[in-house]
Amino acid sequence: MSEIYKGLAGVPVDYTAISKVNPETNSLLYRGYPVQELAATQPFESVAYLLWHGELPTEEQLGEFESTERSLRGLDANVKAVIDSLPTDCHPMDVVRTAVSVIGANDPKTADESPEAELEKAINLFAKLPSIVAYDQRRRRGEEFVTPDPELDYSANFLWQTFGRKPDDFEVDAFRVSLILYAEHSFNASTFTARVITSTLSDLYSAVTGAIGALKGPLHGGANEAVLHEFEEIGYDGDVEQKAYDWLQAAFAEKKKIMGFGHRVYKKGDSRVPTMQKATYELIERYDRPEIKRLYEALAKEMDEAKGIKPNLDYPAGPAYYLLGFDIPTFTPIFVAARVTGWTAHIIEQRANNALIRPLSLYNGVDERHVPGFEG
Ligand code: ACO
Repeated sequence: MSEIYKGLAGVPVDYTAISKVNPETNSLLYRGYPVQELAATQPFESVAYLLWHGELPTEEQLGEFESTERSLRGLDANVKAVIDSLPTDCHPMDVVRTAVSVIGANDPKTADESPEAELEKAINLFAKLPSIVAYDQRRRRGEEFVTPDPELDYSANFLWQTFGRKPDDFEVDAFRVSLILYAEHSFNASTFTARVITSTLSDLYSAVTGAIGALKGPLHGGANEAVLHEFEEIGYDGDVEQKAYDWLQAAFAEKKKIMGFGHRVYKKGDSRVPTMQKATYELIERYDRPEIKRLYEALAKEMDEAKGIKPNLDYPAGPAYYLLGFDIPTFTPIFVAARVTGWTAHIIEQRANNALIRPLSLYNGVDERHVPGFEG
């Protein structure tokens, strides 16, 4: 074997029954269901349940799952204490990564690899991540922790805990749609990281901690916040088409990647973008921020004309989170809260049919040589 598959591009490494990405038809199925249909009809809790169990919950199963999730939303004092000990100018992804690690250290079942215990841990993280994300954004703003509200569903409670006010239905709905679209996407870099860590028989919390590290990078989840930095660099006023064109030309001259565009698997456009874009446009209209839509459309048009490269999910999701009022560095932690469902479904799947993931490399360093003076 002498061929290199750089970045494992185009290489299938295992089967999965969790989701199917079809770049030819621009479709994405979670356990067989088109993601657009799930986004149009389901609460995020049902989609999490689907990813873990393979079927949508009955009303009774959903009720039971919701009450478990709502009972686990609080944070232990030592998780809050560790978060409080971290600098407020570190990246929020560092806080989320550290908090997940502390939750793993607290959990007496960390080493229990039974499917039941793995699912309990997945639900525990799912329930606690909104508290972590909200707690961190609020402490940076000098605001008190908002106690979770067991009357609210997952999406509404996430916004409540972050902003300390009951969200409007349209806000909850746009947010819910984004969480569903972010939940799962087959063997992306962070999910693959989680599977590699699981393949060594390490624990679920370690696998999720590693996945958070992979998601942080701007070529992956970090792109949603980078989109807003691009928007702020270009500016929202004046002739935005000309400004987007000039900004792109300068970025190309510096060989920069334009964040929120392109995808390893989808080359004709990301299947999730139309659904998220609709939700973002609704937020733009509700908040009366037409300048954001003008810039959003101008940059996408100029990028398409210049390179034929289409937006990925991070492109419409970034502005949606901005409009909802999240601080820009908090965008990728929201992605963590959504994707923990997919990661943990993959961890469970990997464990059920494990093979150590250990590829080969072709050596291209110096030839064999000897330490001067060695005579053994
Ligand atoms: N900006 C500028 N050029 C790009 C971009 C981009 N965003 N994406 C691809 N290209 C160009 C490459 O420079 C390359 O050009 P070349 O052949 O002249 O060298 C060509 O398109 C092919 O690109 P690759 O980098 O080989 O594509 P790959 O599949 O490796 O990369 C990736 C995919 C990493 C997502 C890339 O498109 C990128 O860096 N995008 C920006 C980051 C981003 O938005 N990431 C989010 C991913 S989706 C998600 O996490 C929800």
